[in-house]
Amino acid sequence: MPQTHQGTALITGASSGLGAVYADRLARRGYDLILVARNRDRLIALADRITNDTRQSVEIVDADLRDGVALAAVEEKLKQDASVTLLVNNAGVGTHTPLLESDIDAMTRMIDLNVTALTRLTYAAVPGFIARGTGAVINISSIVAISPETLNGVYGGSKAFVLAFSQSLHHELADKGVQVQAVLPGATATDFWQSGGLPIEHLPEGIVMSASDMVDAALTGFDRRELVTIPSLHAGEKWEAYEAARRTMSRDLSNDVPAPRYATAL
Ligand SMILES: NC(=O)c1ccc[n+]([C@@H]2O[C@H](COP(=O)([O-])OP(=O)(O)OC[C@H]3O[C@@H](n4cnc5c(N)ncnc54)[C@H](OP(=O)(O)O)[C@@H]3O)[C@@H](O)[C@H]2O)c1
Repeated sequence: MPQTHQGTALITGASSGLGAVYADRLARRGYDLILVARNRDRLIALADRITNDTRQSVEIVDADLRDGVALAAVEEKLKQDASVTLLVNNAGVGTHTPLLESDIDAMTRMIDLNVTALTRLTYAAVPGFIARGTGAVINISSIVAISPETLNGVYGGSKAFVLAFSQSLHHELADKGVQVQAVLPGATATDFWQSGGLPIEHLPEGIVMSASDMVDAALTGFDRRELVTIPSLHAGEKWEAYEAARRTMSRDLSNDVPAPRYATAL
């Protein structure tokens, strides 16, 4: 049953997979929804089901977020609609193809969606959150953000951007009432794999999570106000140690003289 009214969540890539599960779960938590993706029929079917199940208001926006005009319209909605309290930057595409065997135009289109659209939508939403003293951004990254050798390198690079961008946003916004979460899913059973050219049946057994489990775990992390949530990593202390080492090292990264190991041989 819906809890108290939570405002409106705008979810990109809501027509399938993780985005569709986020839509369901957030409506059940009391959010009205704005669902964004290209496939209008799927959005309509999902909106009908959610409205029926939860009585929350659901608006759909069919938009290709790689298209500048369509993206600008969604940005404008985020700027104008003061009811928006949560942005879920979920739309993304990926592939497993080796870098130099990948079509550069396809790589650029991936960056347009995974990086540029996510960045522009965040810039559109966050000033309103700051002005209202409340709001949250959930950015869907991937475990490949910290394991770029695993799939296609441009995909890994785009997700590393999402992680670093989220960490920086959190650093700048935590004291302004704006919550930021980067979610790093491992392999999850969605259309992502088929669309990226590697059917999910080809993945090893025991590494693929359901979309429902992934989103429910990520929302538990959100409720705990985690900055980084990796639902499939059982040994959470490994992330904490990795992050602690990075933060410690970051204090030492600039120096006025080169490290002794780079001393010029005479
Ligand atoms: N599945 C995994 O194993 C996995 C692991 C780590 C991270 N992720 C990330 O999770 C996110 C969601 O992916 P998913 O697994 O749920 O896959 P999915 O089912 O293929 O969902 C991708 C969503 O993005 C939308 N989309 C794709 N291109 C778009 C565009 N140009 N403009 C607007 N919307 C677009 C799709 O809808 P339309 O086709 O209707 O536009 C769809 O709703 C992605 O960012 C992905 O990188 C997935």
